[in-house]
Amino acid sequence: MKKVKSKDCSKKINSAVFISGRGTNFKSLLSFSKKKLSPIRIKLLITDNKKAKGIFFAKKNNVKFKSFSYKTRQRSELKIFKELKKNKIKFIMLAGFMKILSKNFINKFDGKIVNIHPSLLPKYKGLNAHKKVLKNKDKFSGCTVHFVSKKLDSGKIIMQKKVRVLNNDNIKKLEKRILKIENKIYPLAIKKIFN
Ligand code: GAR
Repeated sequence: MKKVKSKDCSKKINSAVFISGRGTNFKSLLSFSKKKLSPIRIKLLITDNKKAKGIFFAKKNNVKFKSFSYKTRQRSELKIFKELKKNKIKFIMLAGFMKILSKNFINKFDGKIVNIHPSLLPKYKGLNAHKKVLKNKDKFSGCTVHFVSKKLDSGKIIMQKKVRVLNNDNIKKLEKRILKIENKIYPLAIKKIFN
């Protein structure tokens, strides 16, 4: 996998974040990106949902944002690709982006797209991870930051953190505890990639 290198932190890498909703991971990446030690600069927010709550953080922080309808993936991805090129984006962070990127799109950014997933991958790829954890009475769940490869939620793992499943957990409670950890490890994983 080709990696983007940034040895000099004064030359931050132009990056984009893709979201579909709430945007707590985007918020956490944004505040990290402003730190001197951050290897990335967030220049662009992409969403498939013009009502995504996370757009608020882009507005508040003067980050350019673009929404694409995703009526057809091919057309939307083409437009997204043009927007990324226009903004000289070299690195992409998926943060609760609920659309599956095409192989063609992933090829164009090979090794330069990362994702956060709310489970201990390779366990529970795809949707409803928390539900599956509770159904299987697992003792631990967690979250994973990984490179995006052509196979869903299967790229090389960058960082993973375990979270204990409690006796009285339900989906909401477990999701809330894991999300807190996601918000912490996503910036740490980005730091790790470029160090
Ligand atoms: C996070 O839990 C993230 O791991 C998950 O969506 C949530 C987004 O929260 N992503 C996926 O399930 C991707 N398959 P956020 O909008 O508050 O960052």
